[in-house]
Amino acid sequence: MTPRQVRLEFRGAEAASTVAELQRRCFEEAWGRSAIADLLGMSGVFCVVAAKDAGLGVDTEPWGFIMCRIAADECEVLSFGVLPAVRRRGVARELLATALDHAAENQTNKVFLEVSDGNIAATTLYGGFGFRIVGTRRGYYGDRTELSSDAHVLALDLSDAKSS
Ligand SMILES: CC(C)(COP(=O)(O)OP(=O)(O)OC[C@H]1O[C@@H](n2cnc3c(N)ncnc32)[C@H](O)[C@@H]1OP(=O)(O)O)[C@@H](O)C(=O)NCCC(=O)NCCS
Repeated sequence: MTPRQVRLEFRGAEAASTVAELQRRCFEEAWGRSAIADLLGMSGVFCVVAAKDAGLGVDTEPWGFIMCRIAADECEVLSFGVLPAVRRRGVARELLATALDHAAENQTNKVFLEVSDGNIAATTLYGGFGFRIVGTRRGYYGDRTELSSDAHVLALDLSDAKSS
């Protein structure tokens, strides 16, 4: 996947339905359109949506999204996913690189996110960008039974960011 094959667009609250549908298809638990619309309307929140670049200037089915919040000099990745059918083609790498560039352009020094300790795909992706584990939240995902999983808190100093 090259930047020419994926179209990346910054989207606002008008994209709530698109992002909610993408999130529903990427995660077992989704937040719903209304919660996403509220978030997208908040100051400092930005969202990038990826789609196939058909080179025709027309809308094609969205492939993935990343939603982040900038507060002071920090950025947090709120939600991030790529549709199962188009994974492993570099779409997430393009989305994350675009979000990190945007954060850096907005005077952000550090980026934080949470990831399940069993999420090999995301953990490998983040490691390639230079994210490091800075904390663990026990039983963060699930219902705090033996089936729940821990969250790793990852951080990236943007001055250390790699292009993956
Ligand atoms: C994590 C996720 C966003 C990755 O999306 P993707 O578009 O398939 O990722 P990319 O194709 O850009 O992969 C970039 C790199 O990440 C790593 N990676 C991605 N998927 C991987 C997998 N299944 N196993 C191991 N490494 C993986 C690889 O290093 C890959 O580079 P490579 O293909 O050259 O080896 C996607 O799997 C997803 O949406 N998962 C469900 C939702 C989720 O977990 N979101 C993140 C929450 S923190």
